Amino acid sequence: MTSFTPPIHGSNPHLPFGDQQDSPFYGQDILSVKQFDRAKLEYIFGVAHEMYEMVARVGSFDLLKGKILANLFYEPSTRTSSSFTSAMERLGGSVIPINNVSYSSVTKGESLPDTVRTLEAYADVIVLRHPEIGSSALAAKYAKKPVINAGDGAGEHPTQALLDLFTIHEELGRVDGLTVTMMGDLKYGRTVHSLSRLLTLYDVKLNYVAPEMLRMPAEIKAEIGAKGLPQAAYESLEPVIGETDVLYVTRVQKERFEDPSKHEELKGSYVVTTETMAKAKDEMIVMHPLPRVWEIDMAVDDDPRAAYFRQMEYGLYIRMALLAMVLGKA
Ligand code: NCD
Repeated sequence: MTSFTPPIHGSNPHLPFGDQQDSPFYGQDILSVKQFDRAKLEYIFGVAHEMYEMVARVGSFDLLKGKILANLFYEPSTRTSSSFTSAMERLGGSVIPINNVSYSSVTKGESLPDTVRTLEAYADVIVLRHPEIGSSALAAKYAKKPVINAGDGAGEHPTQALLDLFTIHEELGRVDGLTVTMMGDLKYGRTVHSLSRLLTLYDVKLNYVAPEMLRMPAEIKAEIGAKGLPQAAYESLEPVIGETDVLYVTRVQKERFEDPSKHEELKGSYVVTTETMAKAKDEMIVMHPLPRVWEIDMAVDDDPRAAYFRQMEYGLYIRMALLAMVLGKA
């Protein structure tokens, strides 16, 4: 029997004229920080820096004119979703926003593979946030077009880790030699899972400050230990605040708790205040992926070392760089 090749799909519709197929990450999924090495990171940071300069100079430009992004969010988001939208629109492209899947066919029982196969018929790239670990890898298995993981449950958040590292790089001018202290929910916080893995490409010391029930998972510590990074766990910030170059604070991920009363117990136990900042180095930064709930007192916002609002702006340039790269335009 001869196989039937439908006319449109007979040619390769994914290699439109003008794309640079030798562009790093062209046509690739971005699923985990394990995909990066230092050379690739430097390349991404170089492109992100150019994006920053272009936005400062002209605001938006037509690099991705005619390209479409499907922004598919099964979990709440303000920054990740709107920075991807802004990134695509500043590059002249457009966006199919599915920020509330309860208004989509997901509510009718459509599976993730079917939803992504639908969206790739209309879009050139899919950004996905989903509550289950491994959901982006599953989506990528079914999609022919690039899938970018915007958070898969307590798994990974690779684009956040890239913007976090870019923030450290831009604010402190280096990554090697730094002491990075992660504090808060290290068990369920996907941003610290991705960032700690990404930092294994550098010569850094990692401190983990968390209550016993929210400690960094043993398998991630083992991965990091295998790469030779020094790491130490504490139940309080006090012993390490004075040596910290980057204090990375996270929110308790209450949506991942089976017993909500446990979340209440932890409320207020790890808070950064102006007293904390008085014990910190003059040249250091405080980061937070945001949203902040109670972990950083608002009085800290005026301290020049508070980098969390600048951090979120760096995310725009990183996401512009990634979109341009996976679509073959950088
Ligand atoms: C983080 C997330 O969704 O993992 N937010 C973000 O993307 N900036 C952190 C969080 O929700 O606590």
